[in-house]
Amino acid sequence: MRLTRRKFAQSTLAASAVAALPAGLFTACSVSSNAAGGANSAVPTRPLRFDSSAEIPFPKNFFWGAATAAYQIEGAWQEEGKGESIWDRFAHTPGKIKNADTGDVACDSFHRWREDIALVRAMNLNSYRFSISWPRIQPIGSGPANSKGIDYYSQLVDALLKAGVRPFVTLYHWDLPQALEDAGGWPNRDTASRFADYADLVTRALGDRVSDWILLNEPGAFAGQGYLEALHAPGRNSIIDFLRASHTVNLAQGAAFRAVKANRPSARAGSAFSMSACEPATTSEEDRLAAERAHAMTNLWFLEPPLKGRYPEALAFLPETAMGIKASDLDKMRAPLDFIGINLYYRIIASAPNAIERLSHAQQWLFPVKMAGGQQGPKTDNGWEVWPQALYDMVTRISRDFNRPQIEITESGCAYNDAPDASGVIHDARRIQYHRQYLQALALAVAGGADVRGYHAWSLLDNFEWAEGFSQRFGLAYVDFKTQQRTVKDSGRWYAKVAAENRVPPIISAA
Ligand code: FCB
Repeated sequence: MRLTRRKFAQSTLAASAVAALPAGLFTACSVSSNAAGGANSAVPTRPLRFDSSAEIPFPKNFFWGAATAAYQIEGAWQEEGKGESIWDRFAHTPGKIKNADTGDVACDSFHRWREDIALVRAMNLNSYRFSISWPRIQPIGSGPANSKGIDYYSQLVDALLKAGVRPFVTLYHWDLPQALEDAGGWPNRDTASRFADYADLVTRALGDRVSDWILLNEPGAFAGQGYLEALHAPGRNSIIDFLRASHTVNLAQGAAFRAVKANRPSARAGSAFSMSACEPATTSEEDRLAAERAHAMTNLWFLEPPLKGRYPEALAFLPETAMGIKASDLDKMRAPLDFIGINLYYRIIASAPNAIERLSHAQQWLFPVKMAGGQQGPKTDNGWEVWPQALYDMVTRISRDFNRPQIEITESGCAYNDAPDASGVIHDARRIQYHRQYLQALALAVAGGADVRGYHAWSLLDNFEWAEGFSQRFGLAYVDFKTQQRTVKDSGRWYAKVAAENRVPPIISAA
């Protein structure tokens, strides 16, 4: 079975542990949905109860949002002075994207942003997470700002504020200017300074109106899939590049954090991290330890550098020289993020390798953990397990281990490809069920003391899903990619009610 992107995201992190080790290790720790076999039937179940007749209130001033990213929605890839990004180059390279799709037009949001804000309003949202395309601001990744790029985002921000919607702005959602990739990309330390300059330009231009910034989206995913797995732009396949990219990304985050704060000290700045709750496959002590290792690799790798100024102890075997870590770097990558953004879709089941596996895979001696997707919950159309408890577990753990930080759920959502019926209505009941249950799990975490400020459904509208092209629909609004017509799905209407009432309403059965 071909591994999906997200499964690769997890295997990437695991694989990164194998620097300088023999080949053949990736399979040993890749997250494959059938790798778990029946192993996780022994998972100690602490099931949350999802009572659909319950009404679930949320805290006052909670942010109800939806998320998008520039390359996934904007199109207009070479308009108004925009430079080429690594995603333009990658998508234009034959064989990289399913069905040879590209983001050249995507949802045409560059021209149709008013329609998209209308969707945000129709859904009663008070927060909209979108990203800024770096090469729209700096076509070659350095130098002065392209005023047309700034103007585009400026009018978007103004329109959101006018509509009473918080602009929640991501500075980097994977579209590095191609010129910077040509100069070495993320493995090149200089990219950290380029990113800080870009953050400075953007926050100078928009910082008077935008007070909530997401510096990076899923550093683990773009470093891993872009530089190690070659699944995403820029399509490199090198462990050393991956390790170096990881470290530059951490330096970049620290530097950009300081740039944002210098321009507007009261702004909130954080990052959106890809997270998955890691559960032991059985009750054995070995599997419990394996789950802790999986947690370090999946959830802490990019979180401890900013918050603790170090790489997780569990990853102490990482070769510092190969990563390019210098003595003063630990301070540079430290950034007291104002909030932790969590992107969470599913959980991971972790187990300890047996003696034979350890003997046959050197990596398993060094870092003994196998990771797999869960098998108990229903699957979305792209094969991800629906497991709302993962959100509860993750939020609760981060809240506990990081001293009750502010948390924003920056993404959660599901791919279901329900199409319009004869009258043009999109009945996506499974998406309603997904968000209802994840929100229910989130509410329990909040009731348990977690300081969660908002929830952003991925995504506002169907869009270009990276290497999967247009084959996976995550939107609360349906997009007909031929006509660019947007139609709010049943889930979008349901979410509008949730946002308006600040609660998840009970399901009233017809019986
Ligand atoms: C996340 C990405 C987002 C989208 C969703 C499905 O990893 O941040 O852009 O692709 O997955």
